Amino acid sequence: MTGLFITLEGPEGAGKSTNREYLAERLRAQGVDVVLTREPGGTPLAEKIRELLLAPSDEPMNADTELLLVFAARAQHLAEVIRPALARGSVVLCDRFTDATYAYQGGGRGLSHDRIAALEAFVQGDLRPDLTLVFDLPVEVGLARATARGRLDRFEQEGRTFFDAVRSTYLNRAAATPARYRLVDAALSLSEVQQSLDALLPELLELHRG
Ligand SMILES: Nc1ncnc2c1ncn2[C@@H]1O[C@H](COP(=O)(O)OP(=O)(O)OP(=O)(O)O)[C@@H](O)[C@H]1O
Ligand SMILES: [Mg+2]
Repeated sequence: MTGLFITLEGPEGAGKSTNREYLAERLRAQGVDVVLTREPGGTPLAEKIRELLLAPSDEPMNADTELLLVFAARAQHLAEVIRPALARGSVVLCDRFTDATYAYQGGGRGLSHDRIAALEAFVQGDLRPDLTLVFDLPVEVGLARATARGRLDRFEQEGRTFFDAVRSTYLNRAAATPARYRLVDAALSLSEVQQSLDALLPELLELHRG
């Protein structure tokens, strides 16, 4: 058995958090050890950094500060949770990872790809997700779901242009490296989304068994 690193990506309200539980249950039912985690966060220290990142604040956060905080949290999460779990042979299911950095800090904030890639290499070395599920849906549908959920965080308060860039960055990355990505139509009903996750399950199990 080798560890398997699966990330769930997509904009606000796409259903990542709702469906990660479902996917974890389905994998566990097959006897797989699953570590369910999220970014930014995943350890007590990294969750504190998450709070800094998400809290609305009177002082505007510089985009470089935001990028460095994201990778600072990621370094902690990799060292404490992700790398040890993969070394044990677990499936790591992570709600957002570095694709979100390219989408939000790159697409949304306009930071250059090269700057993000340099930090990615610094913090992750060669480690990349084995598979990334991109929950894709029209921007307005996702924002309506997120708004219905409650008070908006610092990212959810951004405008339409920001989220258009987030979505197109995800889609461009998936198109550029199709072997690593699976697109999930997240605009469908929850049961339809879960059916499409069921359809991916044999492939995930096969990858894990190597
Ligand atoms: N397929 C669906 N159809 C309708 N509503 C959905 C669907 N999937 C999730 N929801 C609802 O939309 C809201 C947002 O879902 P969820 O929190 O899972 O999104 P998310 O991708 O984790 O968002 P964020 O990036 O903001 O954390 C929740 O209230 C959830 O119940
Ligand atoms: Mg979520």
